[in-house]
Amino acid sequence: MPRAAATRDMNTLLEPFLVTRGDPAGRYDLEPFGLTVSPGLCYEATRSATGAVIDRLVKLDSLTFGPEGMPMPRWMFYELAAFPGAIFGFGLDAGVLPDASRERLGLGDGDRGLVPVSMYIAIPIMPRVWCGHNLASLKRVLPELGLRRLASRTKAFALRCLRCEQQIGATQWDSDALFVHAKFGVLELLSAWTPAHEFPATLTYRLDVTEAGLRHALGEGGPPTAPPADFEIDADDHAAMRTLQTRIEAGERFAITGKPRVGEGTRRIPIARID
Ligand SMILES: CC(C)(COP(=O)(O)OP(=O)(O)OC[C@H]1O[C@@H](n2cnc3c(N)ncnc32)[C@H](O)[C@@H]1OP(=O)(O)O)[C@@H](O)C(=O)NCCC(=O)NCCS
Repeated sequence: MPRAAATRDMNTLLEPFLVTRGDPAGRYDLEPFGLTVSPGLCYEATRSATGAVIDRLVKLDSLTFGPEGMPMPRWMFYELAAFPGAIFGFGLDAGVLPDASRERLGLGDGDRGLVPVSMYIAIPIMPRVWCGHNLASLKRVLPELGLRRLASRTKAFALRCLRCEQQIGATQWDSDALFVHAKFGVLELLSAWTPAHEFPATLTYRLDVTEAGLRHALGEGGPPTAPPADFEIDADDHAAMRTLQTRIEAGERFAITGKPRVGEGTRRIPIARID
């Protein structure tokens, strides 16, 4: 019998989960912004039962990063994510998902338990400094669920859960993720053109995590204070990225000051020179 369509507000049914090595209690904030990460949804990386959770995260990754040409090999989820770092996300119980969603997620009739719909993967660089290397959300893949601000909320809760004070990340200039990252505050550019990455048109940024930035990403309050932009970089302008990279390597400092400005067929990212 077909399941009922999503009539309930799925946003209220989202449950946070965490995959990491060892006991997260004490190390991490398991009540970020007052939301409890229940012990039953804290998965220890080395336990055999965690394999089933990774199966579902691999599916989430293939539905989001697959079309971007950057799906993660499965071994990376263990060796470069869950074991050295953490995977925080939100999920829904399989039982509340409408048929259309179950089908797209490849769930069989008998499949039960938590189905992740978002994740943020981060690896510690030093105490309280994390490299966020994957942010994925099924909001657009499963529009029938009516999920709101899913990636923004996932990253905000994850940074709070991991007690992150400074976050490093890499993303492509033309990625939609930049709209999300820019909500958190000024993104200092560590690189603007990155041949060491598979996609050279990648930028590397450093973010000082602030309460204002986290709250803004959660939809509370205005954007954090940022300097006025001095110029913009077109998301397709590789020559401008290379020039900026040359200036960064010569010792100048730059930052992304806000979300991309979208025009007809264009996307421009505001940049300020900083001291
Ligand atoms: C990019 C991605 C993470 C966004 O997830 P999401 O749940 O839709 O994100 P949110 O709803 O929290 O925020 C997206 C914001 O970007 C804006 N946005 C996204 N694409 C946009 C576009 N093309 N033009 C204008 N605004 C855009 C949205 O309007 C929204 O802003 P708002 O909250 O002010 O309305 C998701 O689509 C995804 O997983 N993509 C594939 C993987 C990927 O690229 N990951 C990031 C790699 S660093």
